[in-house]
Amino acid sequence: NDDHTVINTDFVVVGSGIAGLSYALRVADHGKVAIVTKDVAHEGSTRYAQGGICAVLDANDSVESHISDTLVAGDFLCDLHAVEMVCSEGAAAVLELVDMGAEFTRSSSGELHLTREGGHEHNRIVHAADMTGREIERVLVEKALAHPNIHFYEKHFATDLVTVQDGEVTRCIGIDVVDRSTNKDIRFVSTVTMLAAGGAGHIYPNTTNPLVATGDGIAMAARAKAHIANMEFMQFHPTSLYVEPDGAAGTRDSVFLITEAVRGEGGLLYNAAGERFMPKYDSRLELAPRDVVARSIDDQLKKHGDKCVYLDITHKPAKEIMEHFPNIAAHLQDNLGLDITKDRIPVVPAMHYTCGGVKTGLKGDTSLPGLYATGEAAYTGLHGANRLASNSLLEGLVYSLKAASASTKYAQMNARQASSLFEDAAEEFSSRELLSPPEDAKSVEHALKVLMNLRQKLQATMWENAGIVRSNTRLLDAMEQVKRLRMELEAISSEVDLGSLATIDCELKVEHFELLNLFTVSELVVVSAMMRKESRGLHYTTDYPYKVEGERRPTVINTPLKSAR
Ligand code: FAD
Ligand code: SIN
Repeated sequence: NDDHTVINTDFVVVGSGIAGLSYALRVADHGKVAIVTKDVAHEGSTRYAQGGICAVLDANDSVESHISDTLVAGDFLCDLHAVEMVCSEGAAAVLELVDMGAEFTRSSSGELHLTREGGHEHNRIVHAADMTGREIERVLVEKALAHPNIHFYEKHFATDLVTVQDGEVTRCIGIDVVDRSTNKDIRFVSTVTMLAAGGAGHIYPNTTNPLVATGDGIAMAARAKAHIANMEFMQFHPTSLYVEPDGAAGTRDSVFLITEAVRGEGGLLYNAAGERFMPKYDSRLELAPRDVVARSIDDQLKKHGDKCVYLDITHKPAKEIMEHFPNIAAHLQDNLGLDITKDRIPVVPAMHYTCGGVKTGLKGDTSLPGLYATGEAAYTGLHGANRLASNSLLEGLVYSLKAASASTKYAQMNARQASSLFEDAAEEFSSRELLSPPEDAKSVEHALKVLMNLRQKLQATMWENAGIVRSNTRLLDAMEQVKRLRMELEAISSEVDLGSLATIDCELKVEHFELLNLFTVSELVVVSAMMRKESRGLHYTTDYPYKVEGERRPTVINTPLKSAR
């Protein structure tokens, strides 16, 4: 069937952020690698990372201290083995990036400059001014493009994992993809599938995440019955830029981050009345872990009915500020006419990071043979109930290296077995019925509007009921609303004949898939939050305001939710 292309490869990778690219570069010496990525190669959260990447490089710092800071920030829900592995192998992994050509900020003596962020006892954040991710992504994309065994499939949207029954075992042997330029379906068959599709920020209306972060990888894995863990721990960054709403409906944009390094370099938080409020909440003040600072700001906003609080770095020398934060300074000057060396910055918390995800072992292996996961899409146990600042880029890097050697071994041992299944998978795919285009194509625009409207309603529900402060009643409400919105979507899908419309408009198809994935991830968040009958780290509920010490386990969902799709 001409409309159903099957591509056979040794490793298929979903995602081209730090996780997917560093993995691909490692396995590329062992076989052909296809990197499938839904936008252009460099688009993803990695590119927008500001603060930096952790590495124990200072003589006064120690791996033990990094371990301890990670465990404290994670509110003692971290997996100790994961923490020990990442903290002890982190410095070497970061230095490897330097060897590849990453140009990080250096001090006047030529050493890597180490900055500080919340929850860290030492300066251990390697950075490229306030554009660390851009530099890392630049180097990794360049290296991957130059590798003869790596082939990029840009603007290709992965829709589902391909699983087959192999005796008693269910194996993952690839992915289904839609090519956004041609609207053609492609099946990649491969012994190893790596999910590095990033986080799910867009289940909320205010997020620092780029538009690609719709939790596709987590939703795909959940549908394939892989184990998913700790989805209640959605991290809200305390300081995203507050911008007066312009009244226009539209929640597809991302909000601009003001890096935690601003507080690391001495930035202070004030409420609208000019009072420095962090001393009321935590002895670590502005450098308390993120969950604490975000909740404190949320409390201030609710108490005083204010729209934002203010971050002030104006007491530091202007030259230092401009050298360390040129990107933030330019953004604020250009967009709001603010001079960060003289003006306070209006900030509010925003959804920032998905701590949970596809549950993996220490080698990125998941509960589904053939499927590996790394980066923000994965739950490795490193972050526990709250991720320590700048541990995410590091996690993606270290786990991708681990997964590379483990999955290469898996590929060597299982290649023959897997390839015997490829033919069936290809045949099943080719025999799929193609939908005919609709008679009347005018309704594409209408259908798109409806889908966007449902996305906004979902985001509003999640923000209101499953956000920074939760309760039993709110979570129940969230569950009901999500179900109701799903039913609305089903009704609309048949009313407008969404399936046929999608054959003539790929963006409608992608919007539909993303919405379904956002529903699935939202349900995972709400169900996980309902399962945790305590407050810990990022999960705070007024019905169980304390920690239960006997309850120190991750929340694992190992059966697909009924409504997964
Ligand atoms: P990403 O970099 O998000 O890449 C995901 C990839 O998957 C993208 O290429 C995307 O297009 C692709 N994809 C997604 N769905 C599909 C699909 N269906 N089909 C095909 N492709 C798909 N962390 C730190 O440690 N330090 C920081 O300073 C820092 N600052 C941050 C600042 C901002 C503004 C943001 C948003 C995050 C920041 N983080 C930081 C978090 C960190 O950047 C991310 O957690 C990390 O980059 C995730 O890397 P990743 O490779 O897993 O995912
Ligand atoms: C930031 O720069 O504040 C983000 C750092 C992170 O998410 O780890």
